[in-house]
Parts: sequence; structure tokens; C-alpha cells
Amino acid sequence: MKRFIYVFIIAFLFIFISVSSIQDVFAQEKKFREPDVLYEPSPQHVVELMLKLANVHKGDIVYDLGCGDGRIVIMAVKLFGATGVGIDIDPIRIEESRQNAGKAGVMNRVTFRNEDLFVADIHEATVVTLFLSQSVNLKLRPKLLRELKPGARVVSYYWDMADWKPDKQIESDDDPIYLWTIPAKKAVRKWLEPCPRSQLFWGEIPDFPLSHP
Ligand SMILES: C[S@@+](CC[C@H](N)C(=O)[O-])C[C@H]1O[C@@H](n2cnc3c(N)ncnc32)[C@H](O)[C@@H]1O
Repeated sequence: MKRFIYVFIIAFLFIFISVSSIQDVFAQEKKFREPDVLYEPSPQHVVELMLKLANVHKGDIVYDLGCGDGRIVIMAVKLFGATGVGIDIDPIRIEESRQNAGKAGVMNRVTFRNEDLFVADIHEATVVTLFLSQSVNLKLRPKLLRELKPGARVVSYYWDMADWKPDKQIESDDDPIYLWTIPAKKAVRKWLEPCPRSQLFWGEIPDFPLSHP
């Protein structure tokens, strides 16, 4: 009986260590996907302006796509009473964000996810903040239209969305901050009507420039 228990414990430890090693390999692999944009934090006064421009308030769910050290969602929670989700492809940034949220005492109102912003589920966001690049913004447009609800606000520091004209624009130290509001789905379909490839229904938004009405 004793022998059976020893064999059982050894077998259990062996399986446990093997599963942990496989998980480590997957975690390592995540690190090998290069970020589309290098890390550079938005200045804190810009973060505040971005959140004010989006009129963030209690009840909002703020998503920062490429969240860096988590400063945008942490401020959204602390100063504006929202809840926040930060997404970053770099696990080091996610760890840093969690530590910062802990220090700020807001861990219960924020979530940080180590994901690629292009595949992350963002449908619940009422506000999306971006500090990425123009090409990444352009690639994101179909996803924003497809997943966000009408009325959701999108704010981008520094980078615009080409022919999507912003609803509002302000400057901070000569750097622009842009605001767009996701229109009603009917209106989005209308945007697609003049497009040659627009034999589409809602949910099949193509990856090419769409004009803001
Ligand atoms: C310029 S920093 C902005 C950080 C933060 N949003 C801020 O304003 O302080 C861009 C961040 O995007 C992240 N990033 C780049 N490509 C990404 C991707 N495909 N998915 C998720 N995060 C990405 C980088 O790791 C980096 O932390």
C-alpha cells in the first residue's frame, strides 16, 4: 500500500512539472511576438486631457489598447470613477500595470490582459484610448466599428485616423488629441454603401478607408 502511495505521488509530481513546463513554453512564446509599436508612456497631463475629452464618468468601461504601464486605465478609475481594462502584448508591461494598480489601490476595478489588441475582445468598452501609430489606428478601424456599440468614444493621442474626421480635436503642447464617436449601425452601413466591395451585412466591415460622414 505504501509503495502504491509513493508511486502515485511521484506520478503526480511528474505530471504537474510537465504541465508547468508546457505552460512556461507558451508564456515564452507570447514574448516573441514583436509589439507593433514601441513603448512610450503618454505624459500624465495628456492622459487627463484624453479622459476629459472622452467625457469619462462613472459607469464607463475604459479600454486602453496597448496599455503600457497602465496609467490611462488607472487614472480613469481613480479620477473619473470608471472601470478599466488594459491590454498589452508585452507581459512585462502587464506585470508593471498590475503593480501600479496595486500601488494606486484600484486593483478591484481594473483588469490587465496580456493579449494582442487586434484579437482582444473589446465589445464591452464604452471608451477606447489609443497611443499607437497611424498605421495601427487604420488597421484597427474595422474592429472598432464591428465590436463597439454606437455611442462608444475613441480617443487617440497624437495619431489620427486619416480620412475619418474627428468629432473633436484638442492640442496639448502642440500635440493633437482626437475624439471619434461610433455611429449607429445603420449609419455605418451607409458609410459602406458607396464602396465597390460593399455587398456586405453588418459584421463584415472591410479593411479599407471609410469616410466619416
Ligand atoms: C506608445 S505605448 C502607449 C502606452 C500607453 N497606452 C500610454 O499611453 O501611456 C504603446 C504600447 O502598445 C503596446 N503594443 C504594441 N503593439 C501591440 C499589440 N499588437 N497588441 C497589444 N499591445 C501592443 C506596446 O507594448 C506598448 O506598451
